[in-house]
Amino acid sequence: MIEISQLTKTYNGKVTALRDLDLTIDTGMFGLIGPNGAGKTTLMRILAGLVRPTSGSVRVLGHDVNTASGKFAIKSVLGYLPQELGLYPNLTGREFVDYVAILKGVTDRATRRQQLDEVLAQVRLTDAADRQMKTYSGGMKRRVGIAQAMLGQPQLLIVDEPTAGLDPEERVRLRNLLAELATRCTVILSTHIVEDISQSCNQLAVIGQGQVVFRGSPRELIAQARDHVWLIATAGERPNSGVTIVSTLQLQDAIQYRVLGTPGTSGAPTGYAAQPIEPSLEDGYMWLMRRITDARVNG
Ligand SMILES: Nc1ncnc2c1ncn2[C@@H]1O[C@H](COP(=O)(O)OP(=O)(O)O)[C@@H](O)[C@H]1O
Ligand SMILES: [Mg+2]
Repeated sequence: MIEISQLTKTYNGKVTALRDLDLTIDTGMFGLIGPNGAGKTTLMRILAGLVRPTSGSVRVLGHDVNTASGKFAIKSVLGYLPQELGLYPNLTGREFVDYVAILKGVTDRATRRQQLDEVLAQVRLTDAADRQMKTYSGGMKRRVGIAQAMLGQPQLLIVDEPTAGLDPEERVRLRNLLAELATRCTVILSTHIVEDISQSCNQLAVIGQGQVVFRGSPRELIAQARDHVWLIATAGERPNSGVTIVSTLQLQDAIQYRVLGTPGTSGAPTGYAAQPIEPSLEDGYMWLMRRITDARVNG
């Protein structure tokens, strides 16, 4: 589906957002996860043909983003929902998607009408389509964004941080919607929230400082933290400094910490009864990031 090799992007000759990045993405639902500033948006904008790579090769469904004809071909098979999509509050959802369809060159009224009905139904907005968008919830605004991206039945849907700013219920509904769309086309989503990918993505890449630091399945990311996760309960003291605290739970008469560390080293929990437990996806992600930071600090 997507083949990226030695991709580098430097903004204004100064900020290197992507550095010699290699990545292949197959069909299905693919998650790009990484902290803010890692380069996710830059990568997605390059895939969508909106940002020019500084160097390296990128092929989307066999089309080269570095050529004008490739870029043109990609535009016809790809739908993109940017991280910040400007909506027009006084337009209705239907008017907005209609406007985007015109911009995309769907000039025939009847064709447009049929496409609108289709994409609005796909994102479950049929009933609210004729209300002004200023009355929409965060989740509905995101769904309008996905509707405009789905115009023209793209083979590839790219959505940048689609769950940002949504409440937990909206977030779950949006994830389910994306998983449903992934049965029709390949979906690539970026996020800095681990739960966004744990449910639905069969493959993922962790991006850190412009590079792919992990590529595999959620199960393989979880396995990264095997034998490195414990629960410790203390009367209130914090665990020793060598361990990473993933979460803290206030119990009736103690505080329970979920910690990551390396057994048999000063980075393992000491002084308390530490109960080893099975890692979660978040543990796998946190442990990976911790190892990268350690490697950087230690040269
Ligand atoms: N238009 C731009 N001009 C200059 N620097 C940019 C621009 N866009 C992004 N950057 C920088 O590139 C890096 C990666 O940003 P971005 O791709 O937005 O990451 P993410 O989406 O993972 O948060 C950051 O250091 C960011 O400040
Ligand atoms: Mg971003």
